[in-house]
Amino acid sequence: MEHLATYAKRLLPRWVKGLLRFFLVPKTVRQTERELGTFVLEKTRDFSMRRRGRPESLQSSILKDCILRQKCLSEMSEAHQFLQTALMPDYRQNLYEYYRQQQYLILLVFLSYAFRGPGCLASHIQPYIAASSELSSMRILDYGAGLAFGLIHLMRTCPGKVASITIVDLDLIHTDLVEYILSDIRSDTEIAVMRVTNPEAIPDFGKRTFNVIYGKDVFEHLTEPERHLRSMLARAEDSCHCYFDFSDHGAKYLQHVHPQLSHLPEILREFSFRSDGNTAGLSKFVRTA
Ligand SMILES: C[S@@+](CC[C@H](N)C(=O)[O-])C[C@H]1O[C@@H](n2cnc3c(N)ncnc32)[C@H](O)[C@@H]1O
Repeated sequence: MEHLATYAKRLLPRWVKGLLRFFLVPKTVRQTERELGTFVLEKTRDFSMRRRGRPESLQSSILKDCILRQKCLSEMSEAHQFLQTALMPDYRQNLYEYYRQQQYLILLVFLSYAFRGPGCLASHIQPYIAASSELSSMRILDYGAGLAFGLIHLMRTCPGKVASITIVDLDLIHTDLVEYILSDIRSDTEIAVMRVTNPEAIPDFGKRTFNVIYGKDVFEHLTEPERHLRSMLARAEDSCHCYFDFSDHGAKYLQHVHPQLSHLPEILREFSFRSDGNTAGLSKFVRTA
């Protein structure tokens, strides 16, 4: 039934989805999303100054149109990837370089997320809000975090609940930006950013343990998602909440090197997690001590 709903959603034209979201998503959520997006843009300006870049470039109307109205953005991003796959031999064996060569385009796409219309950040924000209401102290792992809007929102609204944050992502410009933003929010939270340059390698979490594990739109980018998932679950505390996006991503396509993810919930069962429904489109799994 869930699969049918997912396919039906994919078939709807973008304007119909936008209209539905406009009526279904509460106005307060829409305001939160835009405000969060604006906050991230302001921090991007500070980050640019810190790097001695040209922050005034962020005011360019072409750039603002891309971010605020997504003008041509998804077409440009896909066109760039098609060109890369045409000219980069064996790009699937060289994924870090593939991403590195489109890192500013990836950042542009991330910056636009908050302005895509009502509900655009629901799957980023709601799982963390839900976990924060159920746990007194959070030790969070966000795998393939991107711009980590959910973590930024959490740190702005209830930093006292967040004991530690561990981010695993490729060593790209968006990872530097998210580290800057999170570290700039004054709190006692321990923040660790693990920068990946070999996407095949499993990160060494040392002694870190987690009671919230979040992974959205990342598993389809990993050539062996099972190995990565097992390494995360091996560091899960006895009581732990996981939010994962295991949706079927269709055929192999550009960065989707491993689109079939339907077997992954089985691995959570091996680690004694039980399925606990769906939060804003992500599958939730819980293990209790
Ligand atoms: C489609 S984005 C999703 C970002 C974020 N989770 C979201 O939903 O907005 C995929 C993310 O996975 C990261 N990624 C790709 N391969 C990775 C790997 N081997 N290890 C960690 N992160 C990876 C990319 O850099 C990117 O930030």
